[in-house]
Amino acid sequence: MKIGNYEVGPWAVKEEGGKRHLIFDCRDCVYKSSIADDRACMYHAIKILEEVEVDDVVLAEVYERVYNENQTRMLGEISQIAQKFEIEGVWSYKFLGDAKVEGETFFGERHNTLVSITHENLRFDPINSYIILLQAIKAERDKLQQMPPEKYSDVYFKTLNYVKQVLDKAELIKRARETILKLKTVPDTKDLYRPFFDAQVKPSFIGSRLIFEDNEKLELLDEYNVKDSTVQIFKHPSKTSKMYFINPPEYSLPPEKYFILSKTKELVASYRPGKTSLSELAKSRRYFERVYQSTIKDLSKQNNIALENEEIIELSEIVARYTVGYGILEILLSDKNLTDVYLDSPIGQKPIYVVHSEYGQCETNILYSETEAESFVSKMRASSGRPFDEAHPVLDYDLPDLDTRLAVIGPPLAPDGIAFAFRLHKVTPWTLPQFIDNKFITPLGAGLLGFFVDQQATMLITGSRGSGKTSLTQALMLEILQNTRIIVQEDTSELPVRYMKDIGFNIQHLKTRSPISVSETSNEVAPEEALRTALRLGDSALIIGEVRSKEAKVLYEAMRIGAAGNIVMGTIHGDSAYSVWDRIVNDLDVPNTSFKATDVVVVARPIRFQGALQRHRRLVQVTEVKKQWISDPESEGGLLDLMLYDAKPDKLELLEDNLKESDMFSRISKISGLGLDDIWKSIRMNASAKSYLVELKNEFKFPTLLEAENTVAANNKLMLIKDDSLQEH
Ligand SMILES: Nc1ncnc2c1ncn2[C@@H]1O[C@H](COP(=O)(O)OP(=O)(O)OP(=O)(O)O)[C@@H](O)[C@H]1O
Ligand SMILES: [Mg+2]
Repeated sequence: MKIGNYEVGPWAVKEEGGKRHLIFDCRDCVYKSSIADDRACMYHAIKILEEVEVDDVVLAEVYERVYNENQTRMLGEISQIAQKFEIEGVWSYKFLGDAKVEGETFFGERHNTLVSITHENLRFDPINSYIILLQAIKAERDKLQQMPPEKYSDVYFKTLNYVKQVLDKAELIKRARETILKLKTVPDTKDLYRPFFDAQVKPSFIGSRLIFEDNEKLELLDEYNVKDSTVQIFKHPSKTSKMYFINPPEYSLPPEKYFILSKTKELVASYRPGKTSLSELAKSRRYFERVYQSTIKDLSKQNNIALENEEIIELSEIVARYTVGYGILEILLSDKNLTDVYLDSPIGQKPIYVVHSEYGQCETNILYSETEAESFVSKMRASSGRPFDEAHPVLDYDLPDLDTRLAVIGPPLAPDGIAFAFRLHKVTPWTLPQFIDNKFITPLGAGLLGFFVDQQATMLITGSRGSGKTSLTQALMLEILQNTRIIVQEDTSELPVRYMKDIGFNIQHLKTRSPISVSETSNEVAPEEALRTALRLGDSALIIGEVRSKEAKVLYEAMRIGAAGNIVMGTIHGDSAYSVWDRIVNDLDVPNTSFKATDVVVVARPIRFQGALQRHRRLVQVTEVKKQWISDPESEGGLLDLMLYDAKPDKLELLEDNLKESDMFSRISKISGLGLDDIWKSIRMNASAKSYLVELKNEFKFPTLLEAENTVAANNKLMLIKDDSLQEH
């Protein structure tokens, strides 16, 4: 199509994430590729909208201007109105006047005015058309007032008013009218479009769009930096989730830098990693950045774009992020305040959302694109070596270098397309003192659980998804005495094996095949096989990342005959001690008698206080599994609550009356020769030691004190003191 003397760019409609985008390729077009700033672009968009139905309009050159649904609707309305006027022929003879009454003197002029307003000018500058219309109406009204009755005809006046009536219904005109009416003089309409067609701009080589709301409506709650981006947390006046906004540098660069970025990316596309070398690549990222730096230097010279050294480095980091890195997700995955990142299908329809450790669930300003999602998945397929297709619609993978567990699901399991869930791990393991500090557990609760670890109890930790089971397991593992060997079996690496090794634990890792992944990659061992091996590795504490399938039977069989080592701990999905029994016996086929090998069930739960939106994790139940029952532990009193959470005082209460019925305490007392009083003294001592650390940390504002390396040192010290005092007696 030609507009003025120039050919304009081609267009296409692309469907993605259930949305239809009208995309104009503006790269070789002389116009400004902006609807607000160039009437030719406005014309082109309105003209094409007559042919297609779409959700948004994108003008693409080195960056893309995206006009959202509202803006596209405003353009669409004008395009429909223009068509309507054409079909009705509002400038045709019969609408120009009544020739019998007034003659045809003005018909030529009226025809021209109408054609200009409703046809020629309307698609280029609708607001201007409207202003001319208002002026024409006013002039005609004045004229009619002076008209002698024999020459009076309001045909043309009615036509003008009809045109006005139609235009008045258009959103763009409605909104423009408010502005125009406020102005004293007739404005230059060029400047009027900006507020209505303020596009979201993004570099073309990035798929994700950033959405920016009117910040004035939002209340800024927090602001910090992640990598080279600023993160802002906002409260929205009418949304229940907080808003999590990032503004990475690549979204606000000047055009010449975008030019350099896209060219560099094009040039280096050939270095893109092959299938084999991806994990190596993460390590050699620096190497790639250096390669990009020299490409950028060359390009800037060739194109006479002056760049400082720091700018070159910044650009090379951006290119690396979108070639060998994880793209915009990398920024989210590097934010240590986030615990989860979710991308639901269809991708691109709703923004990415995240779970923030302080602000709970937040909506981000990022709209990820399907193309990016697909390229991300192929990267994951390559680096995990696992299949992902219709036959294997689940991919579970630990992202190298980012302490993140990824789960991707795709069709046919997710019929609307690929969806992602990222779980970000804390870099250092959680500790019981940290849990006391953030009120997840009371000091006494921590002391009691520590005591069970010490007594080599078998403990199952349960709770809903994300309730903190794995985190509590980490903290309890740190309570194990350092002279005990620990075997950890899990299908995704979540437990802090490497870290614990580094601080002096004796720990062996067994990684098993994920049962929820449909793929059966040959070199990964099934969990039940791994467990049989673990049992042969000799006397050790056994930690099972998550009990969820056949390994349960093997585990309980071993425990029943006392072959499972001393401490056994694992997590399992559930919401109470009873549901754990139900799951293990009824779903996982473990006989009742074997289930009795469980000593304690611990339940974690996210609590919403008095209907507040934010969830707080709390330990809500510590239950002893007694041994004298036959078929149903609940109705036969086999499940004895030792501690129970009460939301009113927000406290995990010790149920002193129940303690008297505990078999476990009397058993421990018998075996150890300690009286119940002594046992409780020791538990309370452990509790006080932990709360003392928390007090110190808060008094001296020294969070590191509660990190594992220090809490373990404190535990060791306490053990030695206890030991010494025993020797003395
Ligand atoms: N007490 C807590 N306070 C704040 N954050 C916590 C707490 N416990 C756990 N988290 C965080 O919550 C997230 C989920 O925790 P975790 O993985 O332990 O849950 P889970 O119950 O094991 O989840 P899943 O059901 O997926 O296995 C993690 O990012 C963790 O760091
Ligand atoms: Mg877990």
